[in-house]
Amino acid sequence: MEKYIVKGGRPLYGEVNIQSAKNSVLPLLAASVLTDEKVIIHRCPRIADVLNMVQILGELGCKTSFQGDSLVIDSADAANHEIPSALAKELRSSVFMLGSVIARFGRARIAYPGGCDIGLRPIDLHLSGLRRLGVQITEDGGYIDCTVEKTVGADILLDCPSVGATENIILAAVKGKGRTVIRNAAKEPEIADLQNFLNRMGAKVSGAGSATVIVEGVGKLHGAEYTPIPDRIEAGTFLIAAAMCGGELLVKNALSENLAALLHKLREISCKIHAENDKIYISSKRRLSPKLIETSPYPGFPTDLQAPATALACICEGSTVVVENLFETRFKHVPELLRMGADITVRGRSAFIRGVPALHGADVYAGDLRGGAALTLAAIAAEGESTVSDLYHIDRGYTDFEQKLRGAGADIRRIRV
Ligand code: EPZ
Repeated sequence: MEKYIVKGGRPLYGEVNIQSAKNSVLPLLAASVLTDEKVIIHRCPRIADVLNMVQILGELGCKTSFQGDSLVIDSADAANHEIPSALAKELRSSVFMLGSVIARFGRARIAYPGGCDIGLRPIDLHLSGLRRLGVQITEDGGYIDCTVEKTVGADILLDCPSVGATENIILAAVKGKGRTVIRNAAKEPEIADLQNFLNRMGAKVSGAGSATVIVEGVGKLHGAEYTPIPDRIEAGTFLIAAAMCGGELLVKNALSENLAALLHKLREISCKIHAENDKIYISSKRRLSPKLIETSPYPGFPTDLQAPATALACICEGSTVVVENLFETRFKHVPELLRMGADITVRGRSAFIRGVPALHGADVYAGDLRGGAALTLAAIAAEGESTVSDLYHIDRGYTDFEQKLRGAGADIRRIRV
């Protein structure tokens, strides 16, 4: 087991380089199964979720290899339509494999992905969308079996703008017959990244980033090379770190247009922000309360930055209400923040936070990916020494997290216990 040892209270000065977006790379890897030609994903982060997905591709019969930071995937010999249950349970985003495995083999079998650390994570919209495309789906003994000769285009309305359901339907429809229209589609930048990658492979997808995505089925997809967009959630995590610790930070390989909701909040609390090309500069002295942070689908405030923003609100002047509208149990970081001296009351999906001058060090435990990142930020901003345990949660989504923070002046190191 590994943990961070942190001596908090130091301002951050320096710069950090942002990785490619985890939530873009995962659907791109799923899309690589749609062709029997080679696909290369450049700047591919070696985070646990990606390595798990690479393992799933291997189980399907794909050949994968890292060449430097490029991942080469050759699906020519892929033949297995069953997504291994152990891995599927381990990795929520294995659900994204459904659409592309069905499109490749005409069938797919996957263990019903359970809930996870942050909520129930239903997949009813994925399944209803696939059924609209003509996929026969049976569920028994915790498994989902899908079969279809070839998907047939349909007009699909999503009850809520689910990222995964939007991506799965696109992946299942790109080689189908005719036109598919997805209404109330998710608008996250990662959807546009998937569209751009698929079109480079010869697909005909349009409208990603808007509420209506259109897929014209094509006969065949060819190989392609692609560099995913930067990880807006990692960039946001470091911007919040700077706001909490004070100092000045240059976040490189970060697209400000994908972080508008966070940048608005950081300016509200009196951070100085300057964005130019793919760099975002932040300096922070005072922290006024943002009053209200309410998560909502893109372009609203991202749920994946709710935990770091909650940690920030703990040391802002004044009170803040944080409302988590997307997931049922995404406040696991709150009991740990209370142990660091935070003043938070949770009622249902709302956290009522009264700002304190500073948090103090404590031994805390990451309960999930973004909660673990939030507790690490709280530890480097707190007065005194902390430990953060269960780092495997953080390793799912952040490469070199402590190295990047240390490079900007934080006193943080990882030890094995
Ligand atoms: C993606 O998860 C991201 N994961 C999540 O990031 C992110 O929090 C989420 O989108 C929201 O932005 C990846 O892209 C790999 P959703 P996903 O389907 O697709 C409900 C991280 O930390 N819903 O958009 O699973 C659901 O309950 C992870 O990087 C249904 O009701 O999220 C939730 O309330 C965590 N039925 C809402 O939609 C469904 O069939 C949004 O979920 C599907 C979803």
